[in-house]
Amino acid sequence: MDKLVVKGPGRLAGTMNVSGSKNTALPLMAGAILAPGISTISNIPSLRDISTFARVMRVTGTRVDIDDSAGLVTIDATNIEDTVAPYELVKRMRASFYMLGALLGRCGEAKVSLPGGCAWGPRPVDLHIKGVQAMGATVDLEQGYVIAKAVGGRLKGGSFRLEPSSVGATINLLLAGSTARGGSRIENAAMEPDVVVFGECLREMGARISGLGTSTIEIEGVDELKPVDFANCPDRIELGTYMIAAALCGEPGSPVRINGADDRHLGKVFVDAFTATGASIEVGDNYIDVTAPEKLSSVSIETGIYPGFPTDLQAQWTILLSQSEGNGKVVDKVYHDRFKHIPELHRMGINAIVVGNEVVVQGKTKLTGAQVMSTDLRASVSLVLAGMVASGTTEVLRVYHLDRGYENLENKLSGAGIDITRESYDEWASPVEERQMSA
Ligand code: EPZ
Repeated sequence: MDKLVVKGPGRLAGTMNVSGSKNTALPLMAGAILAPGISTISNIPSLRDISTFARVMRVTGTRVDIDDSAGLVTIDATNIEDTVAPYELVKRMRASFYMLGALLGRCGEAKVSLPGGCAWGPRPVDLHIKGVQAMGATVDLEQGYVIAKAVGGRLKGGSFRLEPSSVGATINLLLAGSTARGGSRIENAAMEPDVVVFGECLREMGARISGLGTSTIEIEGVDELKPVDFANCPDRIELGTYMIAAALCGEPGSPVRINGADDRHLGKVFVDAFTATGASIEVGDNYIDVTAPEKLSSVSIETGIYPGFPTDLQAQWTILLSQSEGNGKVVDKVYHDRFKHIPELHRMGINAIVVGNEVVVQGKTKLTGAQVMSTDLRASVSLVLAGMVASGTTEVLRVYHLDRGYENLENKLSGAGIDITRESYDEWASPVEERQMSA
């Protein structure tokens, strides 16, 4: 198993590159199943979630070739031989549930394992299921699997209102509705860039979709989609993470350049909160320059669906609050218990108290290095940020969580001046054995 060893406090300087978006790459891959033939998707990050999803797709007979060095995925969906997404793979990654809409849209049937648990939750899929039922699918639950069948072999289309708005459910209904016999409407649809870019890809494949980026999406079903060559967008959550890193560890007055950034994907709420801390940004063509202030002002945030503050950046924001003048608060209105990183941060000296779906953070707290445990993707990166700020050595354990969503993180950070290395370790060795092993 691997850990990241960070020696702080560190100074971030120079340039960092943003990779392709994980949460857009996954629906783009699922969408290729709708079209018989060979599609390619470029700017795909080399991540565990991508390889996991490729394995899920291959179960159906779809050929998926990943060229990590080129960031290119080639998908041959000419022949779909099976319409199942098995538990042993779906349990590893919730987004595998996109196979429900993809297989219903292509084959009129799907047998997809329910995702199972998550580090925080609950994370139900009731909206996905009710939505495809509204489009004309029958759905049964058998031994932990959702068995969906389009009545008459092809979905008829239908209207459905998402309460609450859901990124995943919007994506699944776009997958299912694009090849339905009739029209469909998704109300209270998600407006995240992941959904908009995915919808644009479906339109290039011949789907008839309007209203992308608004809360009402209309789909006019077509008989068949055609393969596509499509470029994935940059990862907005990775971008926001590096902006926070620059505000925390950048040299005041010296900008840190973040390349491959699309500032439009961050949403106004995040950008306004970020600049309210005193950090400044300069938006260029495909890059953002971030300059840290002499002193960070404490800015409380509340997460929300796009264009609200992304819930995937609230853990990282907590570290910013810990180094800001004054006290601040993070309220997560999307997930009410996404605070597993706080007990780990207490080990580093953070002064933060979780009350319900809020965490109150006392600013300008000196952090010290410690061994800390990753619990989920975004929590683990907040521990790395804390290690960059803390005095001493921080070991972030179980970085397989982090490898799900951050490509080459240690190389990107060390390339910008941070002392961070990846080391393997035996999770079960006692400290004495560990010392003897490393002697
Ligand atoms: C997507 O998850 C992202 N994952 C998450 O990012 C992100 O945190 C989330 O959207 C919110 O922005 C991917 O894109 C792969 P939701 P998703 O359905 O689609 C409730 C990361 O770190 N809900 O938008 O699963 C749900 O409980 C990951 O990259 C239902 O009630 O999220 C939540 O409160 C973590 N019933 C709210 O909707 C449903 O059927 C939003 O969830 C579905 C969702």
